[in-house]
Amino acid sequence: MCGIVGFTGKQQAVPVLLQGLTTLEYRGYDSAGVTLQTNNGIQTIKSLGRIAVLEEKIGTMGEIDAVCGIGHTRWATHGAPSDRNSHPHESMDGRIALVHNGIIENYLELRNQLIAEGVVFKSDTDSEVVAHLFAKHYKGDNVQAMMDTCRELRGSYALAVITSDRLGEMICTRHDNPLIVGVGEGENMIASDIPAIMSITKNFMVVGDGEIVRVRPEGVEVFSAEGQPVEKEIQTVTWDIQGAQKGGYDHFMIKEIMEQPKAVKDTVSSRITDEDMPYLMDEGVGEEVFKNIRNVHIVACGSAYYAGMAGKVAFERLARIPVLGNVASEFRYSDPIIDKDDLCIVISQSGETADTLAALREAKARGAKTVAIVNVLASSAAREADHVIYTWAGPEIAVATTKAYSAQLSVMYLLALTAAKARGTLSDEEIRTYCRALRDLPAQIEQTLATAEAMKDLAQLYHERNDSFFIGRGIDYMTCQEASLKLKEIAYVHSEAYAGGELKHGPISLIEDGTPVIALDCDPALHEKQISNIKSVKARGAKVILITNGDFEIDETMCDHVVKIPACPYFMAASLAILPVQFYAYYVGVFRGCDIDKPRNLAKSVTVE
Ligand code: F6R
Repeated sequence: MCGIVGFTGKQQAVPVLLQGLTTLEYRGYDSAGVTLQTNNGIQTIKSLGRIAVLEEKIGTMGEIDAVCGIGHTRWATHGAPSDRNSHPHESMDGRIALVHNGIIENYLELRNQLIAEGVVFKSDTDSEVVAHLFAKHYKGDNVQAMMDTCRELRGSYALAVITSDRLGEMICTRHDNPLIVGVGEGENMIASDIPAIMSITKNFMVVGDGEIVRVRPEGVEVFSAEGQPVEKEIQTVTWDIQGAQKGGYDHFMIKEIMEQPKAVKDTVSSRITDEDMPYLMDEGVGEEVFKNIRNVHIVACGSAYYAGMAGKVAFERLARIPVLGNVASEFRYSDPIIDKDDLCIVISQSGETADTLAALREAKARGAKTVAIVNVLASSAAREADHVIYTWAGPEIAVATTKAYSAQLSVMYLLALTAAKARGTLSDEEIRTYCRALRDLPAQIEQTLATAEAMKDLAQLYHERNDSFFIGRGIDYMTCQEASLKLKEIAYVHSEAYAGGELKHGPISLIEDGTPVIALDCDPALHEKQISNIKSVKARGAKVILITNGDFEIDETMCDHVVKIPACPYFMAASLAILPVQFYAYYVGVFRGCDIDKPRNLAKSVTVE
């Protein structure tokens, strides 16, 4: 995830671009840059680090007279954060400059093709290929050049280009990444998000997928992907700038919950082949990795550990490999039985969690192969593991993880399916069926977002209760643990997660009149057993919220409330059942007046033991 911005008008472009970029820093902050159209051609200034570093660099360069320019704040995916990998990227002849947000999936193929044609690359990014492609197609008509360029691209992108010969003009487009146009008086902007345009206007239009937009100071022209003119509606922002940074949401947490379809889509789409097979070879994780191993160890902390435990269910059921799960703080001091015949998977959003890093080092020292599932590029875990698989969830700002957790789950499914192929425990046809289901998962997550209102109502009803239970079996038990953690950390409600069958061995004595019990029932094979467990708490006075993908008759001996979610393969149910419980924790926290994005006593990255 990155932020892009562009300005054209009569006032100086530098302060407007820097102001816009600062509001987009939440989208990425490892490097930044701008390109300005001056009377002597285009001038690019970029640097590693936050916008403030770029601002300082520009400050040392004297006055730059430019009324049109583009800018970028980066969250690296292809190519480590550095000056040379920062955007904008220029064509070889310096006539074209481009900023890109997204991932070009076929960049390697395009890069090799361009190199064969004599292009010399200056960065390791996927984005630079687009600058060279645009230059190749540009013969003075920037709309045509953008159409020709996009025809060759696969992946997701929001693009903005300026050329040295068309002063005051920007050409932009988008596919599966956000882009808006700020419509001012004699000055216009483009940006990834609304806050970036608010220094000049509150009026904006949303660019549709595939549309191409030519922006000049005096007006905005929109074209379809085929070059036909398109009429657009102009909307007006009603929020203030603080609210706008969260895209109109009250908290980053709810914004990030809503971003989960995209986080999962970005993480899986380039890792399923056109033949519907898992593909992790770009990360070096092919079938070989799973062929002769004895055990898989999954090591992580907190939510990342629970994502791993959901992955354990997928691994054991699909690939029939024994999986040992350990929280990192225990693993590192447990004299673990792990050696060269084992694979250790560590999971970490930040890639900097002290216990997880120590566990990774311990596993490596004992000769195990290591794979890290990490969200932050070039973080310590990413650098130290034998293989790194990035989750492309984008920067996560809220302390409580949501979208990174969902992205981690989806990588675990891909790994389990790769292992099943390697071990021959599933037929190719079965693997293809699961891969197709995984490709459909983002759309199902999107559908499940509709449970928000129902969960808000339930949160209002039960937010004053100080104890809650989550119960489930199999994959649902794993989701219950993450759900229970969410409720504790966000809403400061004491809660317990139990395997449905365990209740009768003690904890059922804690159920009293009115205790909220959230029961997950998403695996048809375990449905009857789970319903018996649910009835036993209901009979003792619990208020039961049933979350199910089942299609069966429900009566008042079973539950007080029912929330339906879509059906999917049982091991992927973790990715859908998590949404209503995230909403529940969020709204209970809101009704209790908690500090949602920065819960007490917590930090986003736990770099101490
Ligand atoms: C809970 C949460 C934490 C983290 C844990 C590991 O919402 O975010 O439990 O999952 O601190 O952090 P990472 O994934 O950065 O290693």
